Amino acid sequence: MADTHMELEIDNLRAGYGHLDILHGVNLKIRHGEFVTLLGPNGAGKSTLLKSLFGMTTHKGGAIRWKGKDIAGLRPQAMLGHGIAYVPQGRCNFQLMTIDENLEMAAYTIRDGDLKGEREYVYDLFPILRKRRNELAGNMSGGEQQLLEMAMAVLRRPEILLVDEPSVGLSPQAITLVFNELKRLHKGGRTVLLVEQNTRKAMEAAERAVVLRLGKVIWDSPVGELSSADLGELFMTGRRASDAQPA
Ligand SMILES: Nc1ncnc2c1ncn2[C@@H]1O[C@H](COP(=O)(O)OP(=O)(O)O)[C@@H](O)[C@H]1O
Ligand SMILES: [Mg+2]
Repeated sequence: MADTHMELEIDNLRAGYGHLDILHGVNLKIRHGEFVTLLGPNGAGKSTLLKSLFGMTTHKGGAIRWKGKDIAGLRPQAMLGHGIAYVPQGRCNFQLMTIDENLEMAAYTIRDGDLKGEREYVYDLFPILRKRRNELAGNMSGGEQQLLEMAMAVLRRPEILLVDEPSVGLSPQAITLVFNELKRLHKGGRTVLLVEQNTRKAMEAAERAVVLRLGKVIWDSPVGELSSADLGELFMTGRRASDAQPA
């Protein structure tokens, strides 16, 4: 049954690549406006889950309900139409184009879009980008390019942002910059689902932590209920030491 309080309801989702099964029955519910971080060891299926929510994997079973409607198996373009935006891992902007031109490319898919208006909307959210609008993306720092990636996703005014490992390869200052922007986007009313290796930063920014291991959710709680020691245990063994049965 659909829970109408939930914006996103993932119910026993099974997905993978072709014949390969990666997600083995994922359950996760996210409310409108929540900031959830999805953590887990390498290869757990975190990126696969984000990709599945954006229609980029092979759907094998279960439901993805967005505002009560099952969207599992839809194509990325349709997901965009539903207000879902995906910021993939790594930087995929057009290095030889300016910031302005990159945003123009991002706006290209909006039917009847008002390019100038969309761009100004994004520049209001990311003033750093406005200042550098005529510079080549490839000449910006890693952190600024990551902001550009988020800006390109935000341009369509999505309701949820799926962000995969935005801190990879960034300096500590750049990581702070990117996380501050994520927090600001969240305060502005967006739902955020963030995959991060930098668990400390992710737990500072998010309200809820979900741990994925071997293609299943093994933990889901407010961030305050999970210590870094617990997290290490969960990653390694799939359970917390404090949860162990007394001998
Ligand atoms: N395009 C793909 N084709 C086949 N297998 C993939 C593909 N992408 C990822 N995988 C596999 O899926 C599993 C989960 O990967 P991934 O979702 O990237 O994990 P995480 O993001 O948690 O590190 C890994 O075993 C990985 O090798
Ligand atoms: Mg990944």
